Amino acid sequence: MSDAIAVVAAAYGGPEVLELRPVDVPDPGPGEVLLDVRAAGVNPIDWKVFSGRMGDDPAALPLRPGVEAAGVVAAVGPGGAEGPRGPLAVGDEVFAFRAAGAWASRIVVPAASCVPKAPAVPWPVAGATMAAGATAVHLLEATRVGPGDVVLVHGASGGVGRLAVQLARRRGAARVIGTARPANHDAVRALGAEPVAYGDGLLERLRGLAPDGVDVALDCVGTDEALETSLALARDRDRLATIVAGPPAAAKGFTRLGGAPGAARGDEIRARARLELADRLAAGELTVAVASYPLAEAAAAVADHQAGRVSGKIALVP
Ligand SMILES: NC(=O)c1ccc[n+]([C@@H]2O[C@H](COP(=O)([O-])OP(=O)(O)OC[C@H]3O[C@@H](n4cnc5c(N)ncnc54)[C@H](OP(=O)(O)O)[C@@H]3O)[C@@H](O)[C@H]2O)c1
Repeated sequence: MSDAIAVVAAAYGGPEVLELRPVDVPDPGPGEVLLDVRAAGVNPIDWKVFSGRMGDDPAALPLRPGVEAAGVVAAVGPGGAEGPRGPLAVGDEVFAFRAAGAWASRIVVPAASCVPKAPAVPWPVAGATMAAGATAVHLLEATRVGPGDVVLVHGASGGVGRLAVQLARRRGAARVIGTARPANHDAVRALGAEPVAYGDGLLERLRGLAPDGVDVALDCVGTDEALETSLALARDRDRLATIVAGPPAAAKGFTRLGGAPGAARGDEIRARARLELADRLAAGELTVAVASYPLAEAAAAVADHQAGRVSGKIALVP
């Protein structure tokens, strides 16, 4: 048993329910490691869960938010611990995804969650890339993005969208058109996409950029506008995917991805994606803009994320 500090949601609600508390961390068991967290990613799923909108059972409180982190292995469970790239040892620098309760200074995680991190990859980037990146890879695989494709990404300025843009180009997509608010257009363009503002007139603007339509449409937003413009432009209704929209989108032909009932979880694809992401980060092939906040300022980080004051990823640093 060791001491740590962790962010805890003692009630369901907005960022104000988050508190920093001392917690006991158990020793790692067989197949587990103890991780000294250097950075933990903030993802919309974190605040969707503690908001109560995905279930508000009082018996589940207090919640420990966080699904991903990066850190240094501080102890290995009895009998050793085998990660996806081999045995783990004390002192190893790793990405940890999935890592439940990651908004903490120390956590115990399955060794199977830990992928070695190259020293050159900064901690905030390492802590905040895997969840969005694995989702982006799942989107590209589900729609078979490859050489020559014209790809539309709704939400190209978001955590998932920015990685989907870059990975689509790395897979040979001829063009990526990405929706974002105008203030984020330079960032989206720098990643390899042609930016376009969402909102009134989007379909006309998209038709102006892609008069012959698009091969693939990836929805990271879930609005009617994103779904309808995708349907209007798609040359192939078999290559539409959403990570946000519900069952009505499936009835229109979108493949739904993620943990929601009826969606494709893609556990194997996402687990494998971690290796590709680790390698591409080590090779300097991906740009991930990360704003760092102290762990103690998790509530402010979430509020800034929800309000769109921070674009890209956020990492909490213990
Ligand atoms: N199913 C899954 O497996 C899965 C996995 C990860 C994430 N998700 C979900 O996917 C969504 C995106 O995640 P993320 O991490 O990329 O979030 P994020 O970083 O907060 O990005 C949100 C994106 O939505 C855009 N946006 C906001 N309001 C919009 C509007 N009215 N119309 C069009 N675009 C709008 C933003 O554009 P601007 O900032 O330029 O305004 C930004 O690009 C979230 O709902 C998240 O919960 C699902």
